[in-house]
Amino acid sequence: MKRLAVLTSGGDAPGMNAAIRAIVRASVYYNAEIYGVYRGYKGLMEGELVHMDAASVGDIVHKGGTILKSARSKAFKTEEGRSKAVEQLNAFGIDGLVVIGGDGSFMGAEKLNELGFPTIALPGTIDNDLNYTDYSIGFDTAVNTVLEAVTKIRDTSTSHEKATIIEVMGRNCGDIALHAGVSGGAESIIIPEEPVDTAEVIAKLRKGQKQGKEHQIIMLAEGANQAQLLQNELLERAEVNARVSVLGFIQRGGDPTGRDRILASKMGVRAVEMLLNGVSNHAVGIRHDKLYEIPIADALKEEKQLDEEMYKLTQILSI
Ligand code: F6P
Repeated sequence: MKRLAVLTSGGDAPGMNAAIRAIVRASVYYNAEIYGVYRGYKGLMEGELVHMDAASVGDIVHKGGTILKSARSKAFKTEEGRSKAVEQLNAFGIDGLVVIGGDGSFMGAEKLNELGFPTIALPGTIDNDLNYTDYSIGFDTAVNTVLEAVTKIRDTSTSHEKATIIEVMGRNCGDIALHAGVSGGAESIIIPEEPVDTAEVIAKLRKGQKQGKEHQIIMLAEGANQAQLLQNELLERAEVNARVSVLGFIQRGGDPTGRDRILASKMGVRAVEMLLNGVSNHAVGIRHDKLYEIPIADALKEEKQLDEEMYKLTQILSI
């Protein structure tokens, strides 16, 4: 009987639990044993592995966060740390590991493969910053969380006839800002991939004021600028007194949307099937609504591309 393991690593993302559930249930379905690794690579090095069964993942498909906890580990980045991890995997008799996380977690999975240990990587990050896949687990929920906030902010912003800068997560990738900005009707979207001159933002604000717009929303990705700095700049350069809302960690929590649960379920089952069929060192992605597999190294090689069509939408729709 094959024995598999699963861990979640890096920033948590809604839908990670649905993925864990799918991995555990698919393993049981295919008569494999399954272990959960607590606290990502850190827990792996320390041998925090627990046997799981179908019941261990009951009542979690709808919950945010990760029941296996998550961590970022510096020690795992060293050769010594990684050999410790492989020692633990061998001590527990594990034949294959599924890693759910972002690019840093993918690198870890690839390193384990280099040491001869089979792994499969699943994209679990709200940022959607992995170019090889159209969507990562957690992104859809994060966009919807931001949208809920935008709807509320809009009310107060309209009442007071003010502009609001909403700062959202995304260090290198502006996908949350872009998608929530387009669907939330933002006047300006500022993302790291497409630096916008503040003069442009000011011009947009002034145009809006002239048109009698009651509120204006500037959607800002954290990697492009800081809301407070932009607020000061708008005040100094244009005497615009904008309000600031930094959404922070609420974007990482909450019940996953149906879309994230489905993506996680599909990917989790596929990861188990791959390992049981002898496939390793691959990431699972989704392109045009179809799952596909790609070597982890190739998935990491691809630089995230801006969805130009989506970006242009804002310019057209916010006139
Ligand atoms: O990678 C996901 C993410 O939420 C980023 O958008 C954000 O910048 C970062 O994690 C912050 O996370 P932490 O404080 O846990 O490092």
